[in-house]
Amino acid sequence: MSLLPDESLVRDREASLSAKESRSADERIRDLLSRMTLEEKVAQLHQGSVGDTNPNNLVERTQNFLPTYGSFIVGGPNTLAIRNAIQRRAIEESRLGIPAIFAADVIHGWRAITPIPLAQACSWNPTLVRQAAAMAAEEARAQGVDWTFAPMIDHCVDARWGRIAETFGESPYASGVFAVAAVQGFQGERLDSPTSVAACLKHFVGYGASEGGRDYSSTEISEQNLWERHLPPFAAGVQAGARTVMSAFNDLNGVPASANRFMLKTVLRERWQFQGVVVSDWNAVLQLIQQGYVATEAEAARTAFDAGVDVDMADALFVRHLEVKEVRDRSAERAIDEAVGRVLRLKFELGLFERPFTEPSRLTDAPPNVEQLALAERIAVESIVLLKNDGVLPLYDGGRDDRARQVAQSQGEVTPPTFRTDQRRIALIGPLAENRTALLGSWAQQGRADETPTIAEVFAQRLPEKFRLYVERGCSVDGAEPADFSAACSLARSSDIVVLCLGEEARMSGENASRSTLRFAGKQEELALAILGTGQPVVVVVVSGRPLDLHAIEPKAAAIVAAWQGGTRAAAALFEVLFGKYCPSGRLAVTWPRTTGQIPISHLSRPRARRGDEGAYQDISTTPLYEFGYGLSYTTFEYSTIRLSQARIGYDETLVAEVTVSNVGSCDGAETVFWFIRDPAASITRPLRELKYFEKIQIPFNAERVVRFEINPRRDLSFPNGQGEQVLEPGTILLFAGSRSVQFEVIAST
Ligand code: NOJ
Repeated sequence: MSLLPDESLVRDREASLSAKESRSADERIRDLLSRMTLEEKVAQLHQGSVGDTNPNNLVERTQNFLPTYGSFIVGGPNTLAIRNAIQRRAIEESRLGIPAIFAADVIHGWRAITPIPLAQACSWNPTLVRQAAAMAAEEARAQGVDWTFAPMIDHCVDARWGRIAETFGESPYASGVFAVAAVQGFQGERLDSPTSVAACLKHFVGYGASEGGRDYSSTEISEQNLWERHLPPFAAGVQAGARTVMSAFNDLNGVPASANRFMLKTVLRERWQFQGVVVSDWNAVLQLIQQGYVATEAEAARTAFDAGVDVDMADALFVRHLEVKEVRDRSAERAIDEAVGRVLRLKFELGLFERPFTEPSRLTDAPPNVEQLALAERIAVESIVLLKNDGVLPLYDGGRDDRARQVAQSQGEVTPPTFRTDQRRIALIGPLAENRTALLGSWAQQGRADETPTIAEVFAQRLPEKFRLYVERGCSVDGAEPADFSAACSLARSSDIVVLCLGEEARMSGENASRSTLRFAGKQEELALAILGTGQPVVVVVVSGRPLDLHAIEPKAAAIVAAWQGGTRAAAALFEVLFGKYCPSGRLAVTWPRTTGQIPISHLSRPRARRGDEGAYQDISTTPLYEFGYGLSYTTFEYSTIRLSQARIGYDETLVAEVTVSNVGSCDGAETVFWFIRDPAASITRPLRELKYFEKIQIPFNAERVVRFEINPRRDLSFPNGQGEQVLEPGTILLFAGSRSVQFEVIAST
């Protein structure tokens, strides 16, 4: 059996369609629905899972499915071949020749892997997030993927939950901005373009509040917090035109999200007018039984479908049970037609009726090209957050003499004043120094370890001439292998500087990767304390999918860098930052706790009832180790006072706030200006700080930039109540940018 489409079949189909089809998608959908049997309709609502495939079991695999199934999850290395083989059956062996859709979890790249979403958010650069999604879409579509299950925009303030890695951080506003960027990147201008895939907002809704950070657990979320924190990113993504939404696994306040009619119908369809497809998460319909919501598979199918799930992923309960009900119930037939109509519309939009097959292209099985690697590196470099620096970083000044340094400085280059000419022996220590897969993170799709240079390899290649590199592992990541600190410690002692690479394996975060503690796994903390005990300057690099507990390490480290899981170019990006080729600009998109016991912790807390130390922890500080929005630079930015266009604002007026940010340090840099508000007295108490707008700007050395925030009270100063109605109240608002703050009055409209 040929794995690729027969070219004549493709040509004939296109020719016949262009000759015949002048009808609108609506007409064609109506026509198809009028000709489909009930069985064929319900088959469209099933999403089959293809599983692992290789050229040897391809034929056998394709026979496992009915040619009428609506969609499939793919994603293995032979995606293109399996897609075309299954599609051939759909076109040739089904009565109406309706093409299938092929979906995959393209979360942060296909083969050119960009940083995990949490890291991408730390770049505060929505343009790069959009470009990263567009690059992933182009690669994935070329391999036969039409639909990605991304972006994930769950709200999570518990880093024990492994899936925090897949979020865009804890700010509902910022998650919305990145959701829009990702949707635009994935979907492009038109879904039928060979470079676009349909996006899927997931997981609707509340999954990020999994109890105790344990994956798949139930969630208890107040209505207030649902509207305030969990729903806004989804509203933004729907407004941006995301074509699909995934219903979540979690039991939400007693009604599982995949059976939650209020969320799926009242909120998503009625209030937000979402027109696209709702797909359940994997087996989420079947899991309604396990969750104690229904007793039988038939009930599970009916309950999920009635609640608003269109497509049932994997468990096949819709195909097995929906039609039985329909025979007895005419209104269900209309509902089935509507759901099938949405699936068919997505197929028309994706251009699948015209081009059902994927033809091999320059992107088929090709390693990432130069432009892809450059983009992956750019976003990785902007994602890195410098958490501590006593002056040891950057490690290199370009080897210039004083005169050359002055000239370079006047031109805005990074020229660290702390460069020490005698620091030449670099010890790269720790289990992440020579680890490839850890850099890729979870959901790395077709990202390849052999295309992902390690930190040690990049250092070895790029170190400036007079540097010497020595590498010691010290211990394994998870403690599975015996540790020996002696060689690592003696290397540290004989070196000028230590770069200590600690963190997590890819499998330690992501789905089904919860941890009870944020402590480093295995013997890593012990290793760190032994190395720090040598008294040498140590730069700690944390490669992880979540914030980790640094409380014991932080006081003695000379510098700390959150490198996250930066993807294919993670090591190169890290080198750029450590060696001063790039002035770090990442800022935390999540609060970094001191210890696990501080969880849940975020910048969204509401004010406490008492001031000062009352109620604070007795054993540790109550503040986080690093706050949301925190991150250091090699240069220094100064903020002017905030200027307001007026001191009072009516509900329908616009107030312009401006701040001048000056780069008064020693190199060019980028600053993210965060505009927070606080409403100190409201009918529903408000968080201490709420992010309302952000902008990342490049500011050359010795220059300044004016940054504006145009405040629209109905959009920026209102807040939802527990019913999801926006409330705007008169009163004082505090506005913050950098360390500056100002206040203004909101006046009720008469
Ligand atoms: C389960 C995950 O929760 C979801 O995010 C993913 O898209 C599906 N599996 C499909 O792989």
